[in-house]
Amino acid sequence: MRRKLVVGNWKMNGSGAANAALLSDLLEAHAQWRCEVAVCAPFPYLAQVSELLAGSPLAWGAQDCSANEPGAYTGEVAAAMLSEFGCRYAIVGHSERRALHGEGDQLVADKAKAALAHRLTPIVCVGETLAQREAGETASVVKRQLSAVIHTLAHCISEVVVAYEPVWAIGTGRTASPEQAQAVHALLRAQLQAATEKAGAMQILYGGSVKGDNAAALFAQADIDGGLIGGASLKAADFAAICRAAS
Ligand code: PGA
Repeated sequence: MRRKLVVGNWKMNGSGAANAALLSDLLEAHAQWRCEVAVCAPFPYLAQVSELLAGSPLAWGAQDCSANEPGAYTGEVAAAMLSEFGCRYAIVGHSERRALHGEGDQLVADKAKAALAHRLTPIVCVGETLAQREAGETASVVKRQLSAVIHTLAHCISEVVVAYEPVWAIGTGRTASPEQAQAVHALLRAQLQAATEKAGAMQILYGGSVKGDNAAALFAQADIDGGLIGGASLKAADFAAICRAAS
């Protein structure tokens, strides 16, 4: 039985005071949850998050990492640096980075490899745009995105978390139906099964307008092992409701 995982992706949001209040509320609520929980904060706040969550079962992660080892890469953050402070996860290949920063499949795969090399668990995001879905290209797009990671990581692929995030559902309030999401998760699981015998134990998260009131139906699907939560991860009550739904 796979344990459910709920990851908050704060994106470029937060402040020292807001983070402290949010984390304090989550720390109060977490006793009711039986799922794994993590929050991915902007880089400058990771030290604060690490300090406030120390000794708690809540994990934390970054929203990106460099594909390179430390060196002359202005503005980048190396996986080795994150790992040094107890970072557990690094989101890689989020659609906002693919679309706004031109990150391609191979770069995303290289980032996942760098994360794993430093004992971070990469959360590899895949997902189609609305135009691709309407053109019937969903399966080919997500398979191509995952395939780059499978080829680059080889047998280590079983150590990643995959997140299916249809781009048209991110921040739009338009969630994939549980059946639509499950269909893609099943495809991704089958693709992983061809690459590793551990595919049945891998966590595949759904992301895209997950809220307290739709989380339970999504998480009830056979291949949906939790969620990657954007907007609703910024409010303690909303995030807590999603964590309860995963418990
Ligand atoms: P959303 O974002 O929950 O606000 O749709 C999800 C994500 O981008 O990870």
